[in-house]
Amino acid sequence: MKKFTAILLTGIMLTAVAAGCSNKDNGGNNGGSDGDLPTIGVAIYKFDDTFMTGVRNAITDAASGKAKADIVDSQNSQPTQNDKVDLFINKKVKALAINPVDRTAAGVIIDKAKAADIPVVFLNRQPLADDMDKWDKVYYVGAKAEESGTLSGQLLVDNWNANKSMDKNGDGILQYVMLKGEPGHQDAELRTKFSVKAIEDAGIKVEKLAEDTAMWDRVKGQEKMAAFLAAHGDKIEAVLANNDDMALGAVEALKSAGYFKDNKVMPVVGVDATAPALQALEEGTLLGTVLNDAKNQGKATLEIANVLARGETPTKDNTGYDITDGKYVWIQYKKITKDNMNDAK
Ligand code: GAL
Ligand code: CA
Repeated sequence: MKKFTAILLTGIMLTAVAAGCSNKDNGGNNGGSDGDLPTIGVAIYKFDDTFMTGVRNAITDAASGKAKADIVDSQNSQPTQNDKVDLFINKKVKALAINPVDRTAAGVIIDKAKAADIPVVFLNRQPLADDMDKWDKVYYVGAKAEESGTLSGQLLVDNWNANKSMDKNGDGILQYVMLKGEPGHQDAELRTKFSVKAIEDAGIKVEKLAEDTAMWDRVKGQEKMAAFLAAHGDKIEAVLANNDDMALGAVEALKSAGYFKDNKVMPVVGVDATAPALQALEEGTLLGTVLNDAKNQGKATLEIANVLARGETPTKDNTGYDITDGKYVWIQYKKITKDNMNDAK
């Protein structure tokens, strides 16, 4: 009996030693930690998105020395993302950070995470309120979509008030076209609505000549803008785009149609303040944009996930970010023109 106990004890000790070793050299099987650093499983809706690439880089930077961020591409497919989440759960990551492909799919991800007791932080695509209420270890990091809409509308208001010539046909009404992001995305729906509302609230009458989705995409933005120009030509007095990539696509189409030379102007506004958009502000093709703060959205996501990964409750003290209603972190937008573009760098 004694001998048996001794063998058993040795066995337990060996197992413990082995566990200790694999913990240190982390051969990849132990997804839960990297040395002492917790692994956070991050799934981005698709890597091929200019703004989300900025957020992704910010997550990597913020993780340095704090956590191991295992970041994967969901390739714009919700089933693919669900598989990636299952893999993270099997690897026993300590927290999840998910940028949903379809924000209405967040509920399914929350169910999986809750069953495995792995806290989850959503980012950029806001889950429905009912889903957010499913569990107390669910957070969202984002920005108030209506705020970015209001600010982009104000950029056109500022221009209208400063330049009488913006009203090309002199009818006192702003004829505009709208390039919309992905339908159903809170940023697409609310930016569309609140940008126009801001213009009307400033006492300017508007007339929508055309609206179409270009799915956040530069090439699609160019195609849709070319179609708008073919249909409405010089009747168009302004272009509103839900993001910079689509705005820059529109600028391309406008250039092909002879704009931005020989005094042929067109006010175009976007959202995000990406590097190529800042360049366009500099060259004068883009009138303005709205800073969608990728750096702070990425950092806040990582900080919240890291605190959760350590079994603690996120607070302003341990994350550096205000947490609203116990689960939301709201990052501010900011109006950007050529004059203050350094604020967006
Ligand atoms: C928005 C951003 C877009 C696109 C989208 C992806 O906040 O303005 O450019 O990145 O998120 O969900
Ligand atoms: Ca007009």
